[in-house]
Amino acid sequence: MTILSSPHELKNYLKDKRQTIGFVPTMGALHEGHISLIKKAKSENEFVVVSIFLNPTQFLKGEDLDKYPKKDEADKKICELSGVDILFFPQVQDMYGTDEVSIQAPHVRGYVLEGTSRPSHFNGVLTVVMKLLNIVNPTNAYFGKKDAQQLNLISLMVKQLFMSVNIIPVDTVRQSDGLALSSRNVYLNETQRKEALKIPSSLHGAGIMVSKNILESELIIKQMREILEPLEVVYVEILSREFEIIKQVEIGNSIILVEVKVGTTRLLDNIWL
Ligand code: PAJ
Repeated sequence: MTILSSPHELKNYLKDKRQTIGFVPTMGALHEGHISLIKKAKSENEFVVVSIFLNPTQFLKGEDLDKYPKKDEADKKICELSGVDILFFPQVQDMYGTDEVSIQAPHVRGYVLEGTSRPSHFNGVLTVVMKLLNIVNPTNAYFGKKDAQQLNLISLMVKQLFMSVNIIPVDTVRQSDGLALSSRNVYLNETQRKEALKIPSSLHGAGIMVSKNILESELIIKQMREILEPLEVVYVEILSREFEIIKQVEIGNSIILVEVKVGTTRLLDNIWL
């Protein structure tokens, strides 16, 4: 595995590659969720690039940028063992200059859900993803369905800016008790981790309602909020795959999304129905 930190070196390295390139962008502290993206990229491409970059522009003032978990050595090992060809590990100064051009998230889809409580978060995400895609120029880039709004906005950017990469969604990886894997789970103490299980329970409950043909969004959201009590709910929404609010679940075209705060930790989860 080759480790590079310079965008220009990486661009040069990949310039004459005729192989298909699979790309997995991450912020590090890798877990099984990230590994499943890497495995899918491995199985669908001849060459795999992973980036680890804790992108400062997607964190708002007062968020967890400074205490975000860092596991550089373990991450390198995971990449090596997963058969990654290139690990791109840039520093902030390699990725950003001054007086920066940036991508603006769309004014509707970028400022609902996650974007309501974290305005400008998705500007940072889209800007760094644009930079990374331009550096790597992959055939396919892999993103988790767990971050459904991020996935939706990146797909929209690629479509609207006529970029040629294929964006490939990957299913959420969970622990055996249902909690979705997240780098932020390390912030939870034992009690909070137990409380956090209300999140997959609420989604599971919603799935059961839908299987019984109870499809009204209002009823499903009400039951989910009851299951989530007493956690601080940031939002529970039922949206179409195009991210429009829908009054009824439409099988094959719906996502139920939830964000709660457990202590000070924000946890996201969703199911695609
Ligand atoms: P990060 O949180 O490190 O996540 C990297 C990728 O892993 C994202 O596509 C995310 O959706 C996916 N992922 C996280 N947990 C997962 C799980 N339990 N199952 C499946 N996939 C999972 O998302 C980011 O980094 C950043 O915003 C980034 C896109 C790299 C831009 O900085």
